[in-house]
Amino acid sequence: MSKNIDWANLGFGYVPTDARYVSWYKDGKWDDGTLTSDASITMSECACVLQYAQTVFEGLKAYTTADGRIVTFRPDLNAERMIDSANRLKMPAFPKERFIDAIKQVVAANKEFVPPYGSGATLYIRPFMFGYDSIIGVKPANEYQFRAFCTPVGPYFKGGVRPLTVRISDYDRAAPNGTGHIKAGLNYAMSLYAIVDAHEKGFDENFYLDPATRTKIEETGGANILFVTKDGKVVTPKSSSILPSITRRSLLQVAKDYLGLEVEEREIYVEELSEMAECGLCGTAAVISPVGKIVDHGKEICLPSGMNEMGPITKKLYETLTGIQMGTIPAPEGWIVEVC
Ligand code: PLP
Ligand code: COI
Repeated sequence: MSKNIDWANLGFGYVPTDARYVSWYKDGKWDDGTLTSDASITMSECACVLQYAQTVFEGLKAYTTADGRIVTFRPDLNAERMIDSANRLKMPAFPKERFIDAIKQVVAANKEFVPPYGSGATLYIRPFMFGYDSIIGVKPANEYQFRAFCTPVGPYFKGGVRPLTVRISDYDRAAPNGTGHIKAGLNYAMSLYAIVDAHEKGFDENFYLDPATRTKIEETGGANILFVTKDGKVVTPKSSSILPSITRRSLLQVAKDYLGLEVEEREIYVEELSEMAECGLCGTAAVISPVGKIVDHGKEICLPSGMNEMGPITKKLYETLTGIQMGTIPAPEGWIVEVC
């Protein structure tokens, strides 16, 4: 039985659910972990996460398939990325098999919150880890907590799937040899000023440039970017300071293997934007959100796909990926992990 929620009108917000998974790291090891109904965390005022932002997170979704199963999408890749993130912030790795098990436990315990097939909503799962004990000199914590909660969500961008207007940002979200390639809370703190400023000026999102030369397109604050060139090739920025999006990696494979398109990961310069036919923001939350207009310091670059609908190739990518996630299109081996 589903909860009595107005699935069709859900935005991207936090709705507390019945259970979350918690595991503690103390004395050099993780405990067995457990589900709890307690959505609150109590900690020292001097906790490492509060003073020095030692926290990393992940984001993935659970779906109800057309035949009524509850599944998740490639959780093994989220587990691996979280290990990379943890290593970069000198945190202990949470083992991959345990991560996948935790996700399954949380979703199964909250199955009444998994939106029904065809509702337009999904269950967003947020695993995260943070430095828990009191740290005042700059160094990593000794004790950590791994947690995973979930919340039913609708579209990430207000107004659902509609072409977005983005601007080229004068702010950076990453440093050349910094932490842009991992999913650390600090990267998102970096982006808050820029996103509020963008919204105040009427833009939906920021396109960040490569922080070393500021000549190449990188990503937005919460999604990678895909372009379709005028000759139908799918291209995406290659950079060591962007997050390796699981959605983007999956879409490139879908473009190649399901749609027979040519794909390329390469550096993309700002001057090339006017040569693109379509553009989309891709991520777990964003799925693929089409971009209709890019504004570069007052210069408007209007994508030929326009402000009314998704470009045709973006739409095919969207339909194929969501079809795979919802079980109406056969998935590559290992992409769909059944919960119940
Ligand atoms: N880039 C950033 C900065 C993100 O926060 C996200 C969201 O997770 C993505 C890209 C998309 O990654 P994924 O497709 O793995 O969700
Ligand atoms: C995601 O897509 O999972 C994200 O983390 C993006 C955003 C909510 C930060």
